[in-house]
Amino acid sequence: MTPHIIGLLLGNEEDWPVAFEEILRRLGPVGGHAFDCERITIEPFSLRDKPRYDLVIDRLAYWYYHPREWLKKVAMMDGVYLLNSPFTFQSMEKHAAYCAMMRLGLKVPETVLVPYKNPPDNSRYAYTAARYNQPFDLDAIAATIGYPLFMKPYDGGAWRGVSRINNADELHAAYDASGEMLMHLQKAIDYDVFARSLSIGAETMVMKFQPDLPMHERYAVEHDFLAPDAGLEVVTIGKLVNAFFRWEFNSCETLVSGGEIYPIDYANACPDVALTSLHYYFPWAVKALVKWTVFAMVTGRQAKLDLETDRYFAVADEPGMSYGDKLGEYRKLADAFFETDRYQDFCATSLSGLDQLVLDWVAGPDFDQLLVRTVQSVYPAHEHDKFTAHLRGLLHLWVRDESARLDTA
Ligand SMILES: Nc1ncnc2c1ncn2[C@@H]1O[C@H](COP(=O)(O)OP(=O)(O)OP(=O)(O)O)[C@@H](O)[C@H]1O
Ligand SMILES: [Mg+2]
Repeated sequence: MTPHIIGLLLGNEEDWPVAFEEILRRLGPVGGHAFDCERITIEPFSLRDKPRYDLVIDRLAYWYYHPREWLKKVAMMDGVYLLNSPFTFQSMEKHAAYCAMMRLGLKVPETVLVPYKNPPDNSRYAYTAARYNQPFDLDAIAATIGYPLFMKPYDGGAWRGVSRINNADELHAAYDASGEMLMHLQKAIDYDVFARSLSIGAETMVMKFQPDLPMHERYAVEHDFLAPDAGLEVVTIGKLVNAFFRWEFNSCETLVSGGEIYPIDYANACPDVALTSLHYYFPWAVKALVKWTVFAMVTGRQAKLDLETDRYFAVADEPGMSYGDKLGEYRKLADAFFETDRYQDFCATSLSGLDQLVLDWVAGPDFDQLLVRTVQSVYPAHEHDKFTAHLRGLLHLWVRDESARLDTA
């Protein structure tokens, strides 16, 4: 039996980690490999220490620098498998990801980066600012993009500093308020559907997202809300971004308008997988995490540090190739990166009992306890009954749909 330790590097979440640990425990050994799961603690480390982990799922290091530097060390020196490359997630925030996807010919809306309203408060830059900062005409830039537009930080996250701008007064008010945040101006897309896809390894779930509703109603339970070719394009864009940057646990936001798909946000180092927001889709997410981590360890999958971007740029630069054909080529590169066929085959043969195992668990009392505990930790006391009932309803729906799916399979 080959033992593996999976490390979880966590923030303040308990829902999916408990689910993950439990499913892994119930699954037991797979093909001569046994798995243990541990939560990683933060402590001093020598740069030559040998880590105990074979694989780490990280939910913290984008913001918390000590574990981030530990992740880089174990990725660089010890071959620990990480779902997201810590190198590209530090350097390729939203802005760089926009650039990369524009370079590949995707329909990223027109975007301009404007200089800081207040340059960094550092006396070293006073001379630079006085001598080299060009005055610029904010109104003219906005006029070129056209109203409405969005002003948002170049490295955005959690809706911090995002505003929708309809006219020059709002433009100046938002820019004045941006202070030391570095901002993009981006053309607003008037969309029919907001498709948010969550990717975990070779799997992608596309969900209909309703950003204006309260958190617990943002993910609609709706299947087939995209035409088949639009659905394929959305999945391909998500896989492309992830394969390009070596990200295996990420979400991608695309706006669908007419027949066009516009990606607007696809660098989310810590995508939302909360039970209270994903509800119906939560079992899928935890199951995909278990499947992908087990697949990676049993098959000895290695993380590559280099991006080999030339292979993608060669497709982008192919003269006369249509957008659709380029997407097809990108999809092949992405599927090769994720070993999609091998993964599907592995799931069908080595993890064939997992669907039923997860269904039994979600339908049973342990999961219900997790649901109740989660509601108690997220909502104020007077809302516990309401949200418990709400979530139970959605999870019962999943149990019903999943049972029907397994019955016909
Ligand atoms: N170009 C755009 N056209 C239309 N809507 C947009 C555009 N850019 C942003 N939005 C809206 O603003 C929201 C926040 O923007 P964005 O996702 O870029 O920022 P964020 O800080 O990453 O937010 P979040 O953490 O919610 O994903 C989007 O979910 C979308 O509803
Ligand atoms: Mg976003």
